[in-house]
Amino acid sequence: METLTIDKQQKTTDFLPLNGTDHVEFYVGNAKQAAFYYKTAFGFQDLAYAGPETGMRDRASYVLQQGKIRLVLTTPLHSDHPIAEHIKKHGDGVKILALSVDDAYDAFYQTTSRGAEPYQEPQTMTDEFGEVRTSGIKLYGETVHLFVERKNYTGAFLPHYEKMDSGYHPTPTGLVHIDHCVGNVGWHKMNEWVNFYEETMGFRNILTFDDKMISTEYSALMSKVMSNGNGFVKFPINEPAEGKKKSQIEEYLEFYEGEGVQHLALATNDIVNTVTTLQSRGIEFLTVPTTYYDELIDRVGHIDEDLEPLKKLGILVDRDDEGYLLQIFTKPVEDRPTLFFEIIQRKGAKSFGAGNFKALFEAIEREQELRGNL
Ligand code: FE2
Repeated sequence: METLTIDKQQKTTDFLPLNGTDHVEFYVGNAKQAAFYYKTAFGFQDLAYAGPETGMRDRASYVLQQGKIRLVLTTPLHSDHPIAEHIKKHGDGVKILALSVDDAYDAFYQTTSRGAEPYQEPQTMTDEFGEVRTSGIKLYGETVHLFVERKNYTGAFLPHYEKMDSGYHPTPTGLVHIDHCVGNVGWHKMNEWVNFYEETMGFRNILTFDDKMISTEYSALMSKVMSNGNGFVKFPINEPAEGKKKSQIEEYLEFYEGEGVQHLALATNDIVNTVTTLQSRGIEFLTVPTTYYDELIDRVGHIDEDLEPLKKLGILVDRDDEGYLLQIFTKPVEDRPTLFFEIIQRKGAKSFGAGNFKALFEAIEREQELRGNL
C-alpha cells in the first residue's frame, strides 16, 4: 500500500464537536413503498411518521431505525413541490446527511462564519416532548448537512412526527451504525470539498487514494477520506479520473445529474449472518471471481472467519496496520446506477479496503458494460 497516506496529526481544538450521524434523509418517488423495501429487505423497523394525518400537508415522511441507524424516506404530495423537482432531476437519492450536535445554533455560526453556505437558519421546534434545535448548511450538489440538537427532547424523532408502529416487523439483519458516507463530486472538485470540510467543519484528511492506485484497465477515480475531530463521522469524497473508458464516478454524475451521495456503509458485527440474510431477502451484491479467494490468506494473513462462507457470499477482506475488515457492496438500489450500500465489519482495521479496489472496480465495470455505460 505504497500510495496510501495516513495523516495521524491531531488538531487541538474542535470547533464543531459531532456526536455522530443523527439520520439520513432520502427524497424518493414513493416513500410508502421505499419504507416497505428498507423494512422487508434490510430489516429496518418503524420509528415515526409525518404526513397529512399528523398535520404535515405537503409531504409524507417515514422514519425507520435499526441499531443506531435512522433513515427518513420523504416524498412530496404534489408536483409543484421543490422535493418533486429534486426527484425529477436526481431520481431517488440522499438529500440530508444529518449530524448530531450539542448546539445547533453554534454549529451554524461556526460553519457559516468560516464560509459554509446556509441551507437552513437555526430554528427551534417544540411539542409536548420538548424541543429540538436544527440548522443546516449546503454541501456538494444539492446535498446538505443538517445539525440536530435533541438533548432536550424525548419524542420518537422530531416535533411534528408521530411514533409509528405498523405491526409489520421483519427480523433485523444485524446492521448497527453508519460507518461512513461517500460523496461523488465533479471533475477536479475533490480538493475543493476537502478544503470545505477542513476549513468550515474542522475535519482532516486521514487517507488519500490516487488514480494510480485505484485505476483498473478502464475505471479510474481519486478519493480522499475526511474525518471529524473525534473520528465519529467520516466522509470519503471521490472524483473521476482519466481512464481508458468511462469512470464509474462519471457514470454516477451522468445519471444522478450532478454531485451526490454514492454509498452509505452500514456496519455489522457479523457480516456472514447479515449478508446471508440480505441475500435471502433479494438484495443483489457485486461479485468477484472465485480466484479472488485463492490467494486471499497469503495477502491478508490469518482471519477468524472460515473462508468458505466468505467465498460463497462474495465477501471481500483487506488488512491494514491495525487489523482487518470484511466488506461487500450492493448493486445500485434504484434503476438509475447511482446510490448503493456497503456492508462492513471492522476487526481493528480503520481503512477502507484499498486492497479490494481492483477486484471491486472490475466487478463494477462488468455491470457498467451490461448497462452500456463503459
Ligand atoms: Fe465505502
